[in-house]
Amino acid sequence: MVISQQRKFDLENMIKIYLEGYQDGYFGVNDDFIEYASFYHLTNEPVNKIFSEIGLNEVQKALSVLASGDQVFHMISGGVQNIDTFDINRLTEYYALGFKKRAIECLNYYEFMKLFEYYKDWDLERHFGENKDIEKYVIENMEEEYKCFWNEFLYAVKEKGFEASIFHLSCEADLIDRQNTKNNLYMKDESEYIKLQRRLKEVNISYKYCSIMDVPTTFAKYDLIYLSNIMDYYRSFYGNNNRPMDDARNLIKAIYTQNLNPNGEIILTEMQRKFSPNEFLKEMINHPIINNCLFTAYGIKKKRKLK
Ligand SMILES: C[S@@+](CC[C@H](N)C(=O)[O-])C[C@H]1O[C@@H](n2cnc3c(N)ncnc32)[C@H](O)[C@@H]1O
Repeated sequence: MVISQQRKFDLENMIKIYLEGYQDGYFGVNDDFIEYASFYHLTNEPVNKIFSEIGLNEVQKALSVLASGDQVFHMISGGVQNIDTFDINRLTEYYALGFKKRAIECLNYYEFMKLFEYYKDWDLERHFGENKDIEKYVIENMEEEYKCFWNEFLYAVKEKGFEASIFHLSCEADLIDRQNTKNNLYMKDESEYIKLQRRLKEVNISYKYCSIMDVPTTFAKYDLIYLSNIMDYYRSFYGNNNRPMDDARNLIKAIYTQNLNPNGEIILTEMQRKFSPNEFLKEMINHPIINNCLFTAYGIKKKRKLK
């Protein structure tokens, strides 16, 4: 199988960040949102609660940040069949769409939960990637392109003397619920998991490497746009110009105007609420979906045009 130049480049970078991370004594940081960085292995957002407050059954087409992939899996569980994703971190594609999606497809519920069992005895010590047999089984069952990629990664770091795991590339997330069964409906019980497995057979998912700043010009229109915990970091893409907050708000306005269908909704999630909507956005925010001291999620809904 021939790997594209881009894939080769991605592989080199993935090996590099793994080896650097290992030397530093940890594998990832979670606020480094760049082209090659650690990814979240599971969501740290209460996606179950967020999606239970918006109707997914009317959503024909959605756009989402890819991140851990769990936001997307949630939409699929809720019946959404066409989802475009983007992320500024290229590794999210290999992890969420290459590895995790395949894990859900080819493992049963108990095997999947074992693969993600990373806290033992609630002792806060992480034990990532200890279920190597299951991990290996998933890799062997992947689409050829991803399988080649992960096998080459594991082989290359082994050559350097490290017994790696895909999970070693993930960053630590302060999980609201450590076992994630409250955040992720599909992890809660076997029947939810099987529902997701069934629905995964019917979906179209795409990924594009892209910054949120390019969303208005890159993507078409959607019924649901999920912008996961990016706006808190608006300074990382607007720098210290005079009015980074205004620029950030204008970006949301542009996405609202150009990428949202009538009656569609944008979900903005913020972990620490550094981003504040201005009057213009406040008028459109139809509900703060969740609002507690650590987390808030806004729903911005576009009214149907009156005929
Ligand atoms: C803060 S993380 C949150 C992860 C998320 N809470 C979850 O549950 O999976 C946000 C995700 O957005 C991506 N991201 C951050 N800044 C971005 C930007 N400017 N454009 C596109 N994606 C970005 C990151 O790479 C990361 O995958």
